[in-house]
Amino acid sequence: MVNIALLGYGVVGSGVVELVERYNDRLGRKEINIVSILVRNKSKHRDELYSDLITEDINELLNKGFDILVEVMGGLHPTYEYVESAIKANKNIITANKDLIAELGEPLFLLAKEHGVTLRFEASVAGGIPIIKPLTESLRSGNNIESIKAILNGTTNFILTKMDKEGLEYKEALKIAQELGFAEANPEADVLGYDAARKLAILSSIAYDQKVYWKDIITEGITNIDSKDFKYANSINCKIKLVAQSKRNKDSIYAAVKPVLISNEDKLANVDNEFNSVTVTGDAVGELIFTGKGAGKLPTASAVFGDLIDLIENRTYTVDCFKGNISELDNSISQSCE
Ligand code: HSE
Repeated sequence: MVNIALLGYGVVGSGVVELVERYNDRLGRKEINIVSILVRNKSKHRDELYSDLITEDINELLNKGFDILVEVMGGLHPTYEYVESAIKANKNIITANKDLIAELGEPLFLLAKEHGVTLRFEASVAGGIPIIKPLTESLRSGNNIESIKAILNGTTNFILTKMDKEGLEYKEALKIAQELGFAEANPEADVLGYDAARKLAILSSIAYDQKVYWKDIITEGITNIDSKDFKYANSINCKIKLVAQSKRNKDSIYAAVKPVLISNEDKLANVDNEFNSVTVTGDAVGELIFTGKGAGKLPTASAVFGDLIDLIENRTYTVDCFKGNISELDNSISQSCE
């Protein structure tokens, strides 16, 4: 029996609970037992499964006996402090929180190392696409990673798709993305490109084995795009996509998130709605493309649940690329993403 506690019971948290319920009988002796769930407002969760385990008190949760903390509440504070307390109590951590990893990954990974616990974060980038694990393990070991070119934000990809194919206004499309649970609590992070920049920073730090700080990435969102831009793009057989791209250039790294015109021939042009896609180019393997749902309840929960099973089965890997000095980004390379 493996006891777990959850921080957060929103879209992703309820997806994790659903997968625990769905697959628990597959796990035999290692059945997962949820012992506590922390929420901000208990009254909103009265009728849900496990409502008797719900608390608003972090100390009550920390005092329950558990082995793994699953953090799906998002935000930086007090999430950081809660995760820090759990690591100090020798709990393994699974998080879906890109803000936390991109901003405060360094102290958390150091603390986890000190306490001999594992911090897993597959769901923090590209939702359901398993990208952190292959990048951290075989790809980085077997290659010099040369570049990453990706669509990393489901909300903006959904908005751009709806504006292009259905002629929706930006605000109408954003509202639907929010209703479907793709957008962040504050969708500014999505539409201004910060969410994609944080995810690109995480992938680039792992790929190039150097800490890349998301605020150093050239970042431009989609808020200035309107129907005229789509008309122009269509007239030249292109799509508009928010592309996150980084390249290793000798000893420096170039990284940017910006809306770009992509030829209809490019595979990224056909990645629509909440789908994400990550093209990794390695010197040995060449180009690899990972595509799938980058946001939403069950796709994101699938990445969290995969981490959970890996931890339970003692499959683990080391991440030490978030420490040390931040790489100087070579933003002088004016590079079109097309
Ligand atoms: N708001 C994020 C997105 C959620 O739209 O991609 C998944 O990280």
